[in-house]
Amino acid sequence: MIIVIDGPAGSGKSSTARAIADRLDIEYLDSGALYRTATLIYLEANRDEDTFFRLLNQKKISFYYEDQKFHVAVDGQSVTDEIRTAEVTGAVSEVAALPRVRSFVNNLMRDVVLDGIYVAEGRDLGTAVFPDAELKFFMSADLEERAKRRFKERKDQNPELTLKEVKQNIAERDLKDSKRQADPLKKADEAIEIDTTNLTFEQQVDKICSKIREVLKN
Ligand code: CDP
Ligand code: CDP
Repeated sequence: MIIVIDGPAGSGKSSTARAIADRLDIEYLDSGALYRTATLIYLEANRDEDTFFRLLNQKKISFYYEDQKFHVAVDGQSVTDEIRTAEVTGAVSEVAALPRVRSFVNNLMRDVVLDGIYVAEGRDLGTAVFPDAELKFFMSADLEERAKRRFKERKDQNPELTLKEVKQNIAERDLKDSKRQADPLKKADEAIEIDTTNLTFEQQVDKICSKIREVLKN
């Protein structure tokens, strides 16, 4: 069984999905982390596509959710923190636009969800990856609000970061993610839209959890 949450950067998908996974004791899958891992390998290949695809097929990518964190390893080495750097964030939408990368990540995800109940989040899960998901949500929030949230999370790790830079990165990624040919960021027709601009975190978790509980009961 799979529940999907799609939406733009900073709308609250990953923190909400993690809270839901903990509250309902189900598995969590972060598709963005897998695109970020592919991007790390792309940067290691010095942006050379042939080298990149060779490395991508050679390396073993493993992942699991534990202690409120989605952990990723490449050939047994943790990359959980490396995939969140500004360099990876700056390149990820370009790498995620490559159709071969999308099918690689989709295969990783489809293999893992065969067992158990999952809440997965990303951009195209309800439209392209899991079109038959039992329940679909699309989270959104104003750009200004999303940038403020992301800035608050990152400013301690990077004191030089400005709100303007964060806003620009989010706006650029949203544009690239929505305009790309291969499986763009898009709300599935049947997805329940949750605008989180004026909701508290608890409110959005409660809202989504109650809908999931209804489905789990039936
Ligand atoms: O956490 P944040 O919203 O900043 O981004 P993320 O969920 O880690 O996703 C990083 C990037 O991966 C996105 O900007 C997209 O370019 C790409 N992505 C995608 O193309 N499709 C998905 N299902 C998930 C992420
Ligand atoms: O995964 P996505 O990029 O959509 O968002 P996220 O990584 O979950 O980041 C959203 C941030 O905004 C987190 O720090 C949340 O705690 C915070 N937040 C929220 O998600 N919803 C609210 N209503 C208020 C704050």
